[in-house]
Amino acid sequence: MERKPEIARQITLARRPTGIPVPDDFALKDAPMPTIGAGEILVKMRVCSCDPAIRGFLDDRPSYFPPVQLGAPISGMSLGEVVESNDAAWPVGTLLRTMATWSEYYVIRGDALGLEKVEAAPGVPLQHYMGALGPVGLTAWVGLFEIGKAKAGETVLVSAAAGATGSTVVQLAKAAGCRVIGLAGGPEKAQIVRDLGADIAIDYKAVSDLSAAISEAAPDGVDVYFDNVGGETLDAILPLMRLHGRVAVCGMIAQYNDADNPHGNRNLWQLVVNRLTMRGFITYDHPEVLGEAQATLDRLFANGGLKPLENVRSGIEKLPEAFIDLMSGRTIGKTLVLIA
Ligand SMILES: NC(=O)c1ccc[n+]([C@@H]2O[C@H](COP(=O)([O-])OP(=O)(O)OC[C@H]3O[C@@H](n4cnc5c(N)ncnc54)[C@H](OP(=O)(O)O)[C@@H]3O)[C@@H](O)[C@H]2O)c1
Repeated sequence: MERKPEIARQITLARRPTGIPVPDDFALKDAPMPTIGAGEILVKMRVCSCDPAIRGFLDDRPSYFPPVQLGAPISGMSLGEVVESNDAAWPVGTLLRTMATWSEYYVIRGDALGLEKVEAAPGVPLQHYMGALGPVGLTAWVGLFEIGKAKAGETVLVSAAAGATGSTVVQLAKAAGCRVIGLAGGPEKAQIVRDLGADIAIDYKAVSDLSAAISEAAPDGVDVYFDNVGGETLDAILPLMRLHGRVAVCGMIAQYNDADNPHGNRNLWQLVVNRLTMRGFITYDHPEVLGEAQATLDRLFANGGLKPLENVRSGIEKLPEAFIDLMSGRTIGKTLVLIA
């Protein structure tokens, strides 16, 4: 077994960001290697996930997760390996996913938030289990099928379609026999969405009238809108939904960098006009379907029907840069950082 260093590096919150985060909002700190007590588990981080939701934890406001304190390591999901354990259920060598902190080593207990074992198949890159074969894929599946009730033959529209969740939604919806329209910012992203199998990809930054572009792509309306962005895009889409359409609200990234000034949606009346169901969700609130979701993702991946789209960097010191790129709309696919 490799020797444990005396120092475990962390990325901490140096100050609360205003708008899009910048490097000075973060600090790389040397912390003493943590020790474990009764019932505790020492985990070495292997793959760290950059998630837009973390931007909300950096503001001092209530969300579905407590704010990160100034000087404390940033909270986030990671995939790690047990290196010391005082819990027989989590022996050394176990791979796991959990809510943790941006730290090379961290201590958890068996009741840690989101804690689950990871059974990595031989030959499959570990980072996929933090992406399309992990939380990203599960989020896409839950939003599309459990919340959006998407069925073969229906028209599915997804925003941020070249992103982590969106690129997986495109592929799952196509595999389920839906007609898929993706919205993405820029020609490169739009081409990637087409290459993933979308019937139509709209570069929303290049069109002067988004409603007209979606109407043309979906002349009979949209059955399921998988919403990753909220804001003006949601406003444009609500009047274009079909009768009894479903809006699966996965996230509203368009407002995360400026949460004091959320977009005032003007078209909520369309919920009544079109008898729509609009429902927000958090993936891990649906444990009863995660087994089926994971089995679908694994099967699709094995037969080549699901291609994880990722941008991957190495080294804990790259986390702020990766997160800033994510929150600037510069990334394609799931944003991950491998920790040596
Ligand atoms: N409910 C859940 O359980 C759950 C779980 C995971 C993620 N989510 C949510 O799902 C959404 C997508 O997350 P993800 O991890 O898959 O991220 P992502 O899509 O990989 O990355 C973000 C993308 O969002 C788009 N975007 C639109 N407006 C933006 C803005 N103002 N600033 C930055 N980016 C903007 C950009 O794509 P374009 O250039 O194409 O616009 C950007 O590349 C987020 O809202 C997130 O909070 C929810």
